[in-house]
Amino acid sequence: MVTLALDQIGAGYGRQMILRGVTTPPIEGGALTALVGANAAGKSTLFRRIAGQLKGPGTVHFGGIDRTELRYMPQDTAMSAALTVFETIILALKQGGGWRLSAAELAQVEGVLARFDLSHLADRQLPELSGGQRQAVSIAQTLVTRPRIVLMDEPTSALDLYRQVEVLNALATYAEETGAVMLLALHDINQVMRSCRSVIALAGGQVLATGPTLDVLGPEMIRSLYGISCRVERCSRGCPMMIVDGVAQPT
Ligand SMILES: Nc1ncnc2c1ncn2[C@@H]1O[C@H](COP(=O)(O)OP(=O)(O)OP(=O)(O)O)[C@@H](O)[C@H]1O
Ligand SMILES: [Mg+2]
Repeated sequence: MVTLALDQIGAGYGRQMILRGVTTPPIEGGALTALVGANAAGKSTLFRRIAGQLKGPGTVHFGGIDRTELRYMPQDTAMSAALTVFETIILALKQGGGWRLSAAELAQVEGVLARFDLSHLADRQLPELSGGQRQAVSIAQTLVTRPRIVLMDEPTSALDLYRQVEVLNALATYAEETGAVMLLALHDINQVMRSCRSVIALAGGQVLATGPTLDVLGPEMIRSLYGISCRVERCSRGCPMMIVDGVAQPT
């Protein structure tokens, strides 16, 4: 079983500390884990710290896996190179190791393009794609090496509703198939409830709660995180849904 655990993690920029004492129980692979919290809570900073782009106190424990298997998809992926979609995926697979592809590697590239519904765009240049199409290419790039620790910072932010559902389903399937730990920053609480097994809730650079999705995301926690008054109720088919009532009155 692949796991990722955080122990007293801190990080910041210059002298300003953003994260303090971020500790989680082992996050288990095989399903999606959501990282939720308001704007500026520290989600992207935490990803940078786990990925090793920021230094700071504390320890990231990788269980049953080497940290070289980690892949991180940042929130803003600048993709302006005059490459085709196909070339972009090869580049991510080979990581600068040349363009020659074995039959197995070709199958890997074609597989990830098909999984994220990009096969028909393979020969298009990146600058010719829509924002959502580019985001899907970033996701395919992140997964083409079949990593088993995956950090994705708002992977569905540019996607239309159909593609959000399709991509989250594909990511959950990937996690099941590979046993990967998949930590996803997401803002859509109903999508989190539908597709994520567990949640880490961050506020002001600290962990407010971690655990199974429905244990964490009750109305009180959602109010603490976002200042929103809401209900969590079962729909006519029995699925939990968040219904927003409005902005919470200050207490
Ligand atoms: N490069 C930087 N230099 C200085 N401060 C930064 C930098 N990046 C982020 N910050 C600050 O760190 C804090 C946390 O930012 P972060 O990007 O981690 O938030 P976030 O939870 O990802 O928010 P969002 O939901 O808006 O993406 C914010 O106050 C932000 O202004
Ligand atoms: Mg962010």
